[in-house]
Amino acid sequence: MRSLSTLGFLIGSLAVSGGYCTADIETRSLDQIHEAAKAEGGVVNLWAGGDEKDQQNGLKEAFETRFPGMTLNVTVDLSKYHDGRIDEQLAANNLYVDATFLQSLHDFPRWKSENALLNYQPLEFKNIFDQFKDSEGAYYGVFIFSWSNIWNTGKVDAASAPKEYTDYLKPVFKDKLALTYPNDDDAVAFQFDLIIKQYGWQWFDDLIAQNPRWVRGTATPATLISSSNGSYAATFTSGIGLTSSGSLNVSFPTQGQFVSWPQTGAIFADAPHPEGAKLLTNFVLSDEYQKASGWSVRRDLPGPSGYPTIFDMPGTNVTAFRDFMLDRAAVERLRFRFEDKIGTAQGLSPLVDDL
Ligand SMILES: *[C@@H]1O[C@H](CO)[C@@H](O)[C@H](O)[C@H]1NC(C)=O
Ligand SMILES: *[C@@H]1O[C@H](CO)[C@@H](O)[C@H](O)[C@H]1NC(C)=O
Ligand SMILES: *[C@@H]1O[C@H](CO)[C@@H](O)[C@H](O)[C@H]1NC(C)=O
Ligand SMILES: *[C@@H]1O[C@H](CO)[C@@H](O)[C@H](O)[C@H]1NC(C)=O
Repeated sequence: MRSLSTLGFLIGSLAVSGGYCTADIETRSLDQIHEAAKAEGGVVNLWAGGDEKDQQNGLKEAFETRFPGMTLNVTVDLSKYHDGRIDEQLAANNLYVDATFLQSLHDFPRWKSENALLNYQPLEFKNIFDQFKDSEGAYYGVFIFSWSNIWNTGKVDAASAPKEYTDYLKPVFKDKLALTYPNDDDAVAFQFDLIIKQYGWQWFDDLIAQNPRWVRGTATPATLISSSNGSYAATFTSGIGLTSSGSLNVSFPTQGQFVSWPQTGAIFADAPHPEGAKLLTNFVLSDEYQKASGWSVRRDLPGPSGYPTIFDMPGTNVTAFRDFMLDRAAVERLRFRFEDKIGTAQGLSPLVDDL
C-alpha cells in the first residue's frame, strides 16, 4: 500500500507541474457511489471524535437506512486519543480506519503534509465555506459543533436563566454548576480562554468560589443537570442542539463569545474502503444530512430554524478555534494554568469502558 501511495504522490507531483489538478473530483451520484461501495465490501470504518460511545448512532442509523447493504462501523472516542492511535496505524503501515471526523483541527494539515490523506472533493465540496476546507479536498468541515448555555428549567426559574458568562457568578448558581475540566478538552479550554480574555482571571477565581463540579467529558454536565433530583442545574461546556429538549433549555450569549467550530473530516490515502468512505462523506455533506444537523458547513444552505448561518450568528467566531488549536504551545500553557488552579482531571474517561 505504502509504495503504491508513494508512487501516486510522485505522479501527483508531476501532474501538478504539468498543470493538472491532482484531486479526485466526484461526479457520480450517491446511488452510483453506493454501488461501488457495496462492491468493495459494504463496510466503512469511521473514527469520530466525541465523549460518549453512542454519540454517532444517529449518523450510523441514517447512513445504513439510506444505503442498504452498508455497515458504518463507527468508533467514538476523544479526538486527542483517536489521533495518536491513527498515527500508530500510519507508522505501522497497517491502517484499517477509512475516515475520521475530529475536533483536533491541527492534525489535518500535518497528516496532509505526510501524504496520509486522500485529496478528494465530494459532490458538495464547492459549497463548503472556504474557511472550512483544504483547497485540494484533503480535509473539510463536516458539521458544526458548539457549546451553549444549558439549564434545567425545573431548577432555574426563567428570570435567572443564564445568558452571559457573568450570570454564572450569581448566588443562584452556587453549588449548582457542572462543568467539563478545561484542562481535559481543548474546545472547553478555548471556551474558558474566550471568557477570561473578556472578563479576566478574576472571573475564573469567582467561578471557582461558586464550587462547580468538574467532570470529564462534555456530555456529562448535560446529563447531570437533566436529572430531576440532583442539585446540578446549569452548564456552558456542553452542546445539546439549538432548541430546548425535555427539562433542558438553551441560550447563546451575545456580549460574550461561545465556541463553535467545523468538526473536520478526511479520508485516508490508504483507506481499505475508499468507496465506502466517499459514500459517507458525500452523505454527511448532502442536503438531507446537513439540514438535519443544526448549523451547516455549506454556504448554500440557510441557517437552521430560527437561526442565521453560523457566520451570521452573534456571539461566535466559527473560524477562531482552528487558529487556537494550531498554536500548541499556547494551548499547553493555558492547560497548565487551569490545572494549577483546579487540579488534574479526575476520574476515568467517560469512554473508558469502550477500550
Ligand atoms: C470495527 O471497528 C473496530 C474498532 O475500531 C475494529 O476493532 C473492528 O475490526 C472493525 N470491524 C470491521 C468489520 O472492520
Ligand atoms: C436520581 O435520578 C436518577 C435518574 O434521573 C436515578 O437513577 C437515581 O437513582 C436518583 N437518585 C436518587 C437519590 O433518587
Ligand atoms: C427557553 O429559553 C428561552 C430564552 O433563551 C425562552 O425564550 C424560552 O421561553 C425558554 N423555553 C422554555 C421551554 O423554557
Ligand atoms: C475570527 O477569528 C479569525 C481567526 O482567529 C480572525 O482572523 C477574524 O478576524 C475573526 N473574525 C471576527 C469577525 O472577529
